[in-house]
Amino acid sequence: MGPHAASRPLTLSEQADELEEKMMNELNDKIATKSALFNMGDGSLDYVGGAELQARNPGKYFLMGADPRLPKMPDKPTLIDFFKHRFVSMNHLLQSATLALKAGHEEKVVLACLLHDVGVAGFIRCDHGYWGAQLIEPYVAEEVSWAVRVHQALRFFPDESVGYKYPDMYLKYFGPDYQPEPYIVDEYKRARRHKYYMTARLICVNDIYSFDPDAKVNLDDFVDIIGRNFKQPKEGLGFDNTPSSHMWRTLMWPTRFL
Ligand SMILES: [Fe+2]
Ligand SMILES: [Fe+2]
Repeated sequence: MGPHAASRPLTLSEQADELEEKMMNELNDKIATKSALFNMGDGSLDYVGGAELQARNPGKYFLMGADPRLPKMPDKPTLIDFFKHRFVSMNHLLQSATLALKAGHEEKVVLACLLHDVGVAGFIRCDHGYWGAQLIEPYVAEEVSWAVRVHQALRFFPDESVGYKYPDMYLKYFGPDYQPEPYIVDEYKRARRHKYYMTARLICVNDIYSFDPDAKVNLDDFVDIIGRNFKQPKEGLGFDNTPSSHMWRTLMWPTRFL
């Protein structure tokens, strides 16, 4: 990014940089910043310090709140608001939860299915079970967050007692030679002996590995189950001073300067 010689045509990456800089400059005169992790996602350890960024955007302050490019969140956001305005792949979660509901599982299992991939839907792929569990831990029964955490490991291991096979999709995605890392194998072994093992296993059983873009699912079908099983803080998620409040705030304001 930054000034470039005008005597030659811009490369594709310079064009992308220019577009990005233009978008940044359209944020109501505020400068939005990308965290280190966002740049690593592009394979880059690039870092531009505050002073330099501000010098490129004279007269502007850094964004310290909501990013106007993203849907507006209410002052006291609920889990439903995050589903509607932040989670990018709600359909997968709804399809899994619908399957669990139709199979007649208890509400804790349905909620675990509804929330099992919130890590991916709102945050990050790597270790999504662990991130997702941490995000919801203060608000759900231990059984639910535990199951969300370990479904990450369980999905790589079959359990014939419930008809769960290693997913064909994983053969396609990761190749026939992929072996789960030792920490995943260890997690699986611990989970096998745990009292909530079957709750996590039911997440895998109801996980939809072949996505149906036409499936009719509706978040409204789960509002009551969420109401009974997710302790929505009256201050709003992010403002209730739990060990995961900061994570909800980051989802709300991903481009805040600090
Ligand atoms: Fe998952
Ligand atoms: Fe899933």
